[in-house]
Amino acid sequence: MKTWQASMPSNIALIKYMGKTDHSQNAATNGSCSMTLESFRSTVEIEVVSDAANDRWEPLATDYPLPGGVGDRFLSFFHKLKTAEGLADQSFLIRSGNNFPSDCGLASSASSFASLTMAAEKCFAELKERPVRNATELANISRTGSGSSCRSFFGPWCLWEGETITQMESKMPKLTDFVLVCGSGHKTVSSSEAHRRVANSPLMESRLERIPGRLERSKAAIANGDYDTVREIAWDDMWEMHSLFHTSQPPFFYFSPETIAVLQFVEQAWKRGELKPIATIDAGPNVHLLIPAEQADEFRSLLDKTLGEGRKEGAPIRYLESES
Ligand code: PMV
Repeated sequence: MKTWQASMPSNIALIKYMGKTDHSQNAATNGSCSMTLESFRSTVEIEVVSDAANDRWEPLATDYPLPGGVGDRFLSFFHKLKTAEGLADQSFLIRSGNNFPSDCGLASSASSFASLTMAAEKCFAELKERPVRNATELANISRTGSGSSCRSFFGPWCLWEGETITQMESKMPKLTDFVLVCGSGHKTVSSSEAHRRVANSPLMESRLERIPGRLERSKAAIANGDYDTVREIAWDDMWEMHSLFHTSQPPFFYFSPETIAVLQFVEQAWKRGELKPIATIDAGPNVHLLIPAEQADEFRSLLDKTLGEGRKEGAPIRYLESES
């Protein structure tokens, strides 16, 4: 049986997408930019099946099979894709999996929706005998399944503004992302709900005024390899997004005590001035610390010394690593 496969990476935003002007299309209220996380990937495989009335999903046999399934959003997005191709009556078997643990609190929606879009495109292009569409078109399709997934189509740095999704010019060094796992519990507020709730934060209006200037400064800083400016912008934007959460009605909060401990570690590291990670946090408690790859060994030692033996099972704050 012919199988179509795609594997796409995750990404981490330094200027965050938070808030939507159209929730059904994942149209973002503001522009965002991100770095690709090449080592955190999802894989999706698709097969045509003739003996089933509905599409089915199975976990892929990876090191980290998805125990709880992929959720309705995944299959209903696939349904939308096949309907748009005129293939609504055809049933498919979809397998998917991640190469990173699902209990580590790392969102996999960006990599999994990007992989689903890509695998479906390969499959439909062959079945319908048409060419595969370009990355911009595919990124915009993927965006309608999961907003942040559109940025996984362009790396290592990607800019998403409206329907423009592009690779950014970059002289940034290769970075290693250390993801400090500060809580693996189920999110009390999903990112979809966060996108809705932030609309009523009194800080939203002024954030939207600041974003265009911030995006312009990051474009220039990334293009020039101005690491310190990127680091400062990422810090400001991370705090601003979390402040939206804290000031919306009803307010909500993702930080855990470990999140604060890691942020204090960052503040100390910056003060010492030898290793200055770029720090950012998505809609969850985990902290991403990005450091030039050539400093990764030294940084790992510092992390282990300060926050505990994070690579070991049962460590107080575990961490995972990905290259850009
Ligand atoms: O793509 P979604 O709906 O899961 O949105 C996620 C948004 C953040 O991760 C919080 C920020 C971002 O830009 O990735």
